[in-house]
Amino acid sequence: MMIHNFNAGPSILPREVFEEAAKAILNFRDTGLSILEIGHRTSLFQSVMDETMQTARDLMKLDADHEVLFLHGGATTQFFQVPMNLLNENQTAAYLDCGVWGSKAIKEARLYGNVEVVGSSKDKNYTYIPKGIRIPKDAAYFHYTTNNTIEGTEMFSIPETDIPLVADMSSDILSHEMDFNRFALIYAGAQKNIGAAGVNMVVVRKDILGKVNRRLPAMMDYQKHIEAGSMLNTPPVFAIYVCLLMLRWLKKLGGVPAIEKINNEKAALLYKTLDAKNGFEPTVEKDDRSRMNVVFLIPDPVVEKKFLEACKEENMIGVKGHRSVGGYRVSLYNALPLESVKALAHLIQQI
Ligand SMILES: Cc1ncc(COP(=O)(O)O)c(C=O)c1O
Repeated sequence: MMIHNFNAGPSILPREVFEEAAKAILNFRDTGLSILEIGHRTSLFQSVMDETMQTARDLMKLDADHEVLFLHGGATTQFFQVPMNLLNENQTAAYLDCGVWGSKAIKEARLYGNVEVVGSSKDKNYTYIPKGIRIPKDAAYFHYTTNNTIEGTEMFSIPETDIPLVADMSSDILSHEMDFNRFALIYAGAQKNIGAAGVNMVVVRKDILGKVNRRLPAMMDYQKHIEAGSMLNTPPVFAIYVCLLMLRWLKKLGGVPAIEKINNEKAALLYKTLDAKNGFEPTVEKDDRSRMNVVFLIPDPVVEKKFLEACKEENMIGVKGHRSVGGYRVSLYNALPLESVKALAHLIQQI
C-alpha cells in the first residue's frame, strides 16, 4: 500500500534512506554493532561525520571560508544562538518579518540587542513577501526566512546587501539552487529536506565570529564547535547518520540542480490544478508561492468534507494546515515523489 505523505515535518524521506537507516541500527557496516552503541570518538563514527560534512559542502559548493556544523536544539535554538554570537547589546540587527517562524526569531533576538524590522507582511496574514526592502548598512546582520513553512511563501532572490546575511533555511535547504557562499550564516532543522529530527545543519563563515563582547557558554559558541569538529559533546549520532544517507541520496540523484527540476515540476502541477479548480483557493500571492509548502483554503464545508474523505480513501496524509492558520497545506519536500503530487492533482480534479 502506497501512502502519500504530505507532512510538513518531520516528513517523508526516501524509502532507501529508511532501509539503510534501519540496517545501521541492527548491524552498522558489518561490525555486528548498532550505530546506536558505538562511541562518537571512534574512527567508525568519525568517518560518518567527515563524509556528512564533505557531502554537504559539495552539494552547497561551499568555499573554504565556510564551516559546516551539526548541532542540537532544532532551528528554534538558532533563533537565540545567532544573536548571542553576532549581536552586541548596543547594536541593531535587521530582520524580515514574514511568518510565524521569522517573528519567533525576532522575539529571541530582542533578548540580546536591538532589532529593526525592515519589512513585514503581517498586515495580510503573511500571504506575500514585502518588496523593495531597505537594509541598513550599519546593522550587525540581516536575518530572513527563505521559505515560510506555515504560510507557504518563498523568497525567490537573495537580498542585496553588504552586511552579513543570515538565513533560516529549515524548510527549503538544498531544494533549489542558490549561491550559499553569499550567506554569513545558514541554519536548518534537518527534519524536512535533509534528514531526521534532532539535528540542525549550521553553515557559518568564520570571519563573523569572535566579535561580540558577551561571554558565551561553550555549547552556544559556534567558534568552540568549529574547533571541536562539531563534536564538542556527544553529537546526535543517529540523526547525523540519517543526514548522511539523505545527502548521499541527493548526490546520486544529480545534486541540487536535479532536485530543483523535480521540485519545480511538482509545485507547478499542484498550483495549476488548484488554480483551475473551483472551490480550492491558494492563499499566497502568485509571485511568492512556495515550492515546498502549498497552502490553500476550501471555503465550502461540503467540498471540504468530500476532499478529506477522498484523501482518506487514497491514503493521503498530512494535508491539514498548521494549527495557527487553518485551511490546508501540502508539503512537497525533496523526498516527496512526483507520483504523489500527480495522485493528489487527480484527486482534486475529481472532487
Ligand atoms: C522555517 C522554520 N524555522 C524554524 C522551525 C522550527 O524548527 P525546530 O522545531 O527544529 O526548532 C521550523 C519548523 O517547522 C521552520 O519551518
